[in-house]
Amino acid sequence: MNFELKSIGLEGAATEKCDALIVLVSQDFKAGKDDLSALLVQTLKSGDFETKAGKSLSLYRPAQASATRVVLVGVGSGSARDVRGALMSAVASVKSSALKKLVVCFAAPAREDAVRAVVTAVADTTYTYTTTKSKPEGRVLTKVLVTTTNASEVKNTFDRAVGIVVGAELTKEWANRPANHATPTLLAEAAQALAELPKISCEVLGPKEVAKLGMGSFMAVAQGSDQPLRFIILKYTGAAKTQAPTVLVGKGITFDCGGISIKPAAEMDEMKFDMSGAASVLGVFRSLAALKPAINVIGLIPACENMVNGRAVKPGDVVTSMSGQTIEILNTDAEGRLVLCDALTYAERFKPAAVVDIATLTGACVIALGGVRSGLFASQEALGTALFAAGESAQDGCWRMPLDEDYAEGLKTNFADVANLGGRAGGAIAAAKFLQRFTDKFPWAHLDIAGTAWKSGSAKGATGRPVGLLVEYLMTLAPAK
Ligand code: BES
Ligand code: MN
Ligand code: ZN
Repeated sequence: MNFELKSIGLEGAATEKCDALIVLVSQDFKAGKDDLSALLVQTLKSGDFETKAGKSLSLYRPAQASATRVVLVGVGSGSARDVRGALMSAVASVKSSALKKLVVCFAAPAREDAVRAVVTAVADTTYTYTTTKSKPEGRVLTKVLVTTTNASEVKNTFDRAVGIVVGAELTKEWANRPANHATPTLLAEAAQALAELPKISCEVLGPKEVAKLGMGSFMAVAQGSDQPLRFIILKYTGAAKTQAPTVLVGKGITFDCGGISIKPAAEMDEMKFDMSGAASVLGVFRSLAALKPAINVIGLIPACENMVNGRAVKPGDVVTSMSGQTIEILNTDAEGRLVLCDALTYAERFKPAAVVDIATLTGACVIALGGVRSGLFASQEALGTALFAAGESAQDGCWRMPLDEDYAEGLKTNFADVANLGGRAGGAIAAAKFLQRFTDKFPWAHLDIAGTAWKSGSAKGATGRPVGLLVEYLMTLAPAK
């Protein structure tokens, strides 16, 4: 799918040959002298159409435009939220096998956040997963033209949004794949494929190398599965090698049945999404290749299944992490923190400017924040503030959660340095406190995306979050051009 931005108004958009023209009409709309403007004025006067968000009017081959279908859409104040909502339903109404070229026209000068909303809403509504269908019916839309009279003002935002979509779609693809089509080995191959892109390299470690590193915590999770673990190291080198990198660590549990502390059967299929953090790291690297910022980024992915066999780790087992800290595994279903802690220790060798881990870590975070905002934990004020702000501009929000020492009380045990389980109350925070023990050497933040990485129900599928937030944050680190 190809996105293009043109600086034209209604008159120009009307002459574009396309399968559908969606006209976004905000309350600031001022009619020009062209025929489409005249038509708009008529529909508004007659009351058949209003600029209120959610209002729309569909037309077939109107004389005033070259498009097959024209949808007039009210977007109220023209805010991102209104534009997104209105556009989602408009695209759904024109989405058909014939929708190859789409034009989205702002009838009044576009706001930056609205332009971003257009790009992501079109991408989200037309994305279709096909990999494991025998008769794939993929996206037919190949060309999206966005028009506004102030295109030069919004071009940077537009380009960034398009770069983010490319990455987020890779994230969706890998997160959506069932576990038997997204094993640790296949995930590593996907990372290696990214190394074909400029400035990206990739290294993959297997069980032997990981054992040599002493990643006893990661290995304890992997030992219950017949699928061999993989430790994936991605590098994006966009700046001088001397520049400290940002390290992203993605939880890569390709299937989480809970281990011996097994999960209930209902909705267990959704635990194929438990590598969404890893998939978001892959997506970020895809976006970096598109946007080419002058920064250095490292991606670390501990990938394995959390399964049950005769060698599976048992509740009460004590393992030694790469950091040297011993961990009592009280619940084998709290496996995310066990794979992440060794990856965090591994991150030390890069002397990072900051480390951000991304994980579908706790059901408690879903209860706390639902599917709207990801949970954000940060050990350092500036990092927390920057990530929060990035989420706001990317329309991929998160919310700051606390890290008081008192929340770590529940992790105390008589049999090891730390337990992998706190109480049920404040579960998302206890998990973060566990991770924090492995982050002394660098500024650290943790994004719990258990609620935001995928949708359940009839719209079941990956969201591609938080690629937008992460890319937006990384772009702020690049020197201004
Ligand atoms: N992958 C899950 C977290 C999860 C649960 C994500 C539901 C999305 C929806 C994680 O590995 C897990 O099982 N966490 C446990 C931790 C508990 C045993 C301390 C949880 O949240 O129940
Ligand atoms: Mn689990
Ligand atoms: Zn998990």
